[in-house]
Amino acid sequence: METINNGIKRIKRIGVLTSGGDAPGMNAAVRAVVRTAASLDIECVGIRRGWQGLINADFTMLSTESVKHILTRGGTMLYTARSEEFMHPEGRAKAAATCRMLGIEAIVAIGGDGTFRGALELSREGIEVVGIPATIDNDVDCSNYTIGFDTACNTAVDCIDRLRDTMQAHERCSVVEVMGRNAGYLALYVGLATGAMAALIPEHKYDFQKDIVELIQTARLAGNTHLMLVVAEGAGSAVDIGRRIYEAIGIEPRVTVLGHIQRGGTPTARDREMATRMGYTAVKALYEGRSNCVIATKDGYIVELPIEEAMQMKKHLQMDRYRIMQTMQLGGLKEVLQQDL
Ligand code: F6P
Repeated sequence: METINNGIKRIKRIGVLTSGGDAPGMNAAVRAVVRTAASLDIECVGIRRGWQGLINADFTMLSTESVKHILTRGGTMLYTARSEEFMHPEGRAKAAATCRMLGIEAIVAIGGDGTFRGALELSREGIEVVGIPATIDNDVDCSNYTIGFDTACNTAVDCIDRLRDTMQAHERCSVVEVMGRNAGYLALYVGLATGAMAALIPEHKYDFQKDIVELIQTARLAGNTHLMLVVAEGAGSAVDIGRRIYEAIGIEPRVTVLGHIQRGGTPTARDREMATRMGYTAVKALYEGRSNCVIATKDGYIVELPIEEAMQMKKHLQMDRYRIMQTMQLGGLKEVLQQDL
């Protein structure tokens, strides 16, 4: 680092990595980090394979040229991994040593909660960090939005729309499992957007008889010939739910587990735009002398939060979406409003 006029230490070399489950838009964030850094004469080291790559000094120098054509691509050009070794102090000490060896003064870490926990620990080793939230689960507590969520929602919606065509043709019931880890954001958004009969989410305890069996019976009595049930992976297994529906009422649902298909594909405009703004903001913060923070979204704005504070925050799924979905299907808003969600 060198001192510039206004007293702020000028940062000369940063590292960027992607860690945890990949999310569409991670590449767009890497591109924004590299190009913003280049515009400020900051060198950018791409760390491959997340925290494990930092431990192993697995890196490549990045330039404006090397991030050409990645804006539209899913996955991550830097690869990603979940590192067991980094969870231990010895692993983090090795990672910090790599930073010192390579002259990396700060790391921009793109990923979810696990990535940020790692970043916080690394900051305690004396390496400056900035986190950028990216996961299809949207389950990073300090940020309203995470890069990749919109693309994953749209991918799941596209798949479910296709399923609906064939369910309609055969007058069948479909049970679709979507990802989301322990959170129901993906399932609830997708359920609303596809007009699903219900979305089972971990945030709302369901009663199989009342919330599934009776719902199917009511829907059929109301004349619905094909039924779509969305299940968040954190709320149970679609295979089990399908089997229980068969045992309870004799109809044989077709079960689809969307799985990793939701993580791939070209990022939507929203994810590209968000990733670009976040990547830019991360490097700008470092240039202006701020670090150990997370770039988050709050009420549509991009904000910087101290990482310690960010890791203490809790966000809650807005359960009015659950009510809205129920209302769209079976009406009875007056009864829905009386439910304690
Ligand atoms: O966190 C992203 C995510 O795709 C979750 O939705 C899912 O539970 C998990 O990662 C799957 O992890 P893996 O790719 O290791 O199977």
